[in-house]
Amino acid sequence: MEVVIVPDAKAGGELIAGAMAELLRHKPTALLGVATGSTPLPIYQALAAQVSSGAVEVSRARIAQLDEYVGLPAEHPESYRSVLRREVLEPLGIGMDAFMGPDGTAEDVRGACEAYDRALAEAGGVDLQLLGIGTDGHIGFNEPCSSLASRTRIKTLTEQTRIDNARFFDGDIGQVPHHVITQGIGTILEARHLVLLATGEGKADAVAATVEGPVAAVCPASALQLHPHATVVVDEGAASKLKFADYFRHTFANKPDWQGI
Ligand code: GLP
Repeated sequence: MEVVIVPDAKAGGELIAGAMAELLRHKPTALLGVATGSTPLPIYQALAAQVSSGAVEVSRARIAQLDEYVGLPAEHPESYRSVLRREVLEPLGIGMDAFMGPDGTAEDVRGACEAYDRALAEAGGVDLQLLGIGTDGHIGFNEPCSSLASRTRIKTLTEQTRIDNARFFDGDIGQVPHHVITQGIGTILEARHLVLLATGEGKADAVAATVEGPVAAVCPASALQLHPHATVVVDEGAASKLKFADYFRHTFANKPDWQGI
């Protein structure tokens, strides 16, 4: 995998938005897999700026959701569907008709998971999947010890993830659902390009395990090592525990200009 160390979150957002814009110039109908959480926000802001300036056109782009809470009504402000509408679709001027995601309110949750996996494949697969990372190394909501071959399915959140996410629910862990639907690790690995952004020292252990640790279900993000085109973009804080940091800096500084990430 390629590791790019950037000075700060804004630079990371601009680098990744640049790669998304480049993809859209070659494939205007690209299916973009998007993630929630605080980390990807600079990506969405940078991409929206490129759209406003006319540098890229997103009118034919399609957006796919990574994960969703089970049981929150779609219109709940913290359902990931609502979050993505607010933070990604509206700023980019993309309508909900170009959006696909799992149904977290379905009575038949298993059927909804299978339907979403099928829908992603029928849509031609995700071209570029954005990922954040949990402090425990989760991607999407694939908590530690998730099968590296898993498909979209229901998962139970760890207490740590519920504590981390309580900030979106008035700081009240009681409001954070216990269950979620997430694209499985096997599903995520089918995207053509995986781009993980991590910022801040709080993610340094998870990033080190992802990049330099063994491929192991205990750190779900380490599955990125199995992907032929995975890019991990980190700021100095998140890079602070990487033994190969100098090598990563050297290789990025010496890349041919045409290569991109
Ligand atoms: C949630 C999301 C993940 C995200 C993680 C980290 O658990 N399901 O997709 O990567 O939070 O969020 P943050 O970027 O806010 O640290």
